[in-house]
Amino acid sequence: MTESFDAVDIIRTKRDKGTLSPEQIDWTIDAYTRGVIADEQMAALNMAILLNGMSRAEISRWTTAMINSGERMDFSSLGKATTDKHSTGGVGDKITLPLAPLVAVFGVAVPQLSGRGLGHTGGTLDKLESIPGWRAALSNEEMMRQLADVGAVICAAGAGLAPADKKLYALRDVTGTVEAIPLIASSIMSKKIAEGTGSLVLDVKVGSGAFMKDEARARELAETMVGLGSDAGVRTVALLTNMNTPLGLTAGNAIEVEESLEVLAGGGPEDVVELTVRLAEEMLAGAGVHDADPAAALKDGRAMDVWRRMIAAQGGDPEAALPVARESETVYAPADGVLLELDALSVGVAAWRLGAGRARKEDVVQAGAGVRLHAKPGALVRAGEPLMTLLTDTPERFDRAKEALEGDVVIGPEGDRPAQQLIIDRIA
Ligand code: URA
Repeated sequence: MTESFDAVDIIRTKRDKGTLSPEQIDWTIDAYTRGVIADEQMAALNMAILLNGMSRAEISRWTTAMINSGERMDFSSLGKATTDKHSTGGVGDKITLPLAPLVAVFGVAVPQLSGRGLGHTGGTLDKLESIPGWRAALSNEEMMRQLADVGAVICAAGAGLAPADKKLYALRDVTGTVEAIPLIASSIMSKKIAEGTGSLVLDVKVGSGAFMKDEARARELAETMVGLGSDAGVRTVALLTNMNTPLGLTAGNAIEVEESLEVLAGGGPEDVVELTVRLAEEMLAGAGVHDADPAAALKDGRAMDVWRRMIAAQGGDPEAALPVARESETVYAPADGVLLELDALSVGVAAWRLGAGRARKEDVVQAGAGVRLHAKPGALVRAGEPLMTLLTDTPERFDRAKEALEGDVVIGPEGDRPAQQLIIDRIA
């Protein structure tokens, strides 16, 4: 087959801060998926994009080309509105677990395609796989049936969805080009648009435990993604939320499921409840439901009922005991005072080193591993009181986990703690 363009010309155009034509973009994504553009050429192009950026029109076309590299799902035969949430990833971010069944209570279908964790941010599928029997891989027909019967499904994205992104993301991961806003935005949105949801809420994390450490870049990412969603006819809003400290009191797998169950039982940590309820309100509004009271559905057990059916539909036993780590070690407060800071990134890295996360795609995670917090910023603590419990099946991991936590905790006099908002802004 004669190729329409030459990869080197395309790389040179971006290197010299030029604009790629729609035809050049379509060809680039297609030729890379077919193996005509080599990895080293795509890596060079990604780096040029990271350094020189892309226009809104270029990002939009790049996203469409990635969607067109695979299948598009279609939930229109369900006869229900559909909505989904995507988080850019953080530490202790278990919100999807209570959120999907909570939104389904109100008759809106939630097709939640999730991922596994890589590095210090956890993956929703790893958390759910700590439930005995639960399986992440569903066929499109199984997913459809579950959406019709239960209303919510959390499962792995099939291989047919945006295959160009799978190849590109793996390349970006090893070439220092993950952080390019056009590439992150098109990667996330191509999968969400191909998934076929009618509306979408983005939880864009800002802070030490997030991809985006500073608010200006997080805002730019959120605005880019909201624009891409709207261009594709998906009603999209984004919340910018704080990720300087972990969400809730757990970072791991089974311990995050346990905390989600507390939220579904009407309790749980305040920040997890606040974000779950706020995201549910946004998702329901996007799906055209304006008079719902998600907080009440957590309190009265309706969300828990959907959770049980959702877990059972995927082979899980909602009543089974969750795995518990074999070993634990406690970290104590070094001084009296107010806990001023508890750094999300350090806790995330510690949980990962304890075995809750993976360093390579093929690693197996430990279901019981992680970090349980006993205090959150703002709490009054006394020297010698337990601050965190480290959990693992393999105690040789404790030392490296504790190294990650060095300098993680700041304790000081009352009054020194700057106010931190959980929900920083809403972008629509
Ligand atoms: N998540 C994705 O799916 N893609 C990115 O590029 C970054 C985060």
